[in-house]
Amino acid sequence: MKIRTDFVLNDIGQLLTIDGSGSSGIGVLADAALAMENGKVVWVGFKNDLDTCCSVSDTTEIVSAGGFIVTPGFVDSHTHPIFGATRQAEFAMRAAGADYEDIAAAGGGILNSVKRTRLASDDLLRNNMMHHLSLMLSNGTTTVEAKSGYGLDISTELKCLEIAGEVAAIVPQTVIPTFMGAHEVPDEFKGRADDYIDFLINEVNPLVRDQGIAQFVDIFCEKGVFTPEQATRYLSASAQQGFSLKIHADEFYDTGGAAVAVNTGAVSADHLLSISEENIELIAKSNTVATLLPGTALFLNKPFPPGRKLLDSGASVALATDFNPGSCFCDSMPLIVSLAVCQCGFTVEEALVSATANGAAALGLGAQKGRLIPGFDADFVIWNSNDFRTIPYHLGNPDVAVVYCAGRKVYST
Ligand code: NIG
Ligand code: FE
Repeated sequence: MKIRTDFVLNDIGQLLTIDGSGSSGIGVLADAALAMENGKVVWVGFKNDLDTCCSVSDTTEIVSAGGFIVTPGFVDSHTHPIFGATRQAEFAMRAAGADYEDIAAAGGGILNSVKRTRLASDDLLRNNMMHHLSLMLSNGTTTVEAKSGYGLDISTELKCLEIAGEVAAIVPQTVIPTFMGAHEVPDEFKGRADDYIDFLINEVNPLVRDQGIAQFVDIFCEKGVFTPEQATRYLSASAQQGFSLKIHADEFYDTGGAAVAVNTGAVSADHLLSISEENIELIAKSNTVATLLPGTALFLNKPFPPGRKLLDSGASVALATDFNPGSCFCDSMPLIVSLAVCQCGFTVEEALVSATANGAAALGLGAQKGRLIPGFDADFVIWNSNDFRTIPYHLGNPDVAVVYCAGRKVYST
């Protein structure tokens, strides 16, 4: 029986299905077509086989990709887009020689954003987030994780997650909110990080869970922020409460954060600029996705994460922007893909798989997003190019032509 379809994308020069076949699983199909029904992919194949396999009727919408390339939309699995103000003054201080950690210790950094976020109106927070999600869309991102973590008190954290939920209902992308109350120790708990962890576990997590406004929790495990012991305690308690887990691990120092991720069953361990050789092996043997954020290394002038070593060890590696006002003010997944290729030892194919299917796995969406195969969401990008290698090659100026979310055109140049 022929497959029913209400929307066909035809004349695709190169379709990247990311179906696991071919070099690094990129699954390139030349002269392809993509058939969809109700916003989901129902068939992919050679365009010459379309009529034999699918029932294309008068009501089926047919769009030509004009021989261009088509990829799944990017899955940006690590962003901090809910904040009250940007921090270009700190950026300029770093350019003049100051260090990120010194700026943070002097009251800048995350706590600077916390001050401004607590004072911000709902409208300002919502408009900021919407603005950056629309820039992400124009860069081909169709799924975005969104962390709270610039409130660090009950009302602001809940407000930020509620705003993320409101924005999710308006924008075309899929938005996955994450509760990151454990982003930093707020001034009210200065010197009492353990008490703050207790407060999160006993008072804030239950509210977040009962309101159903975040599926994941995240914690910044770092020298001077939360220790591996505190991270383990917070993540284990959060798992008991029903949350899925993420962790900012081994960003500036090797504190063993990657091991905390593996031992607590975290879905992803993120940053890993300073991960040890031993923990590369550990994460490679686990189900935890190693999420690399090379934009942050660039922005803070730190060493790039060991992408090649992680890939060679067999780890599942995702790429994301880490979009935030302090350490990486970058909305562009194509730029992150370029950095992964040029600075972290990824092949073009590996980088594209990491920015799509592996990003989806880092959000627990591995069976729904990041691939263009039957059953998956029809989130895709038509590029103004006929060769997929131009995506990272065209540095800083992506050739995105048209973006679709759930089979609906939501952006075009
Ligand atoms: O992922 N590392 C911790 N959190 C953010 C930075 C936040 C900030 O500077 O505002 C990050 O890099
Ligand atoms: Fe981050």
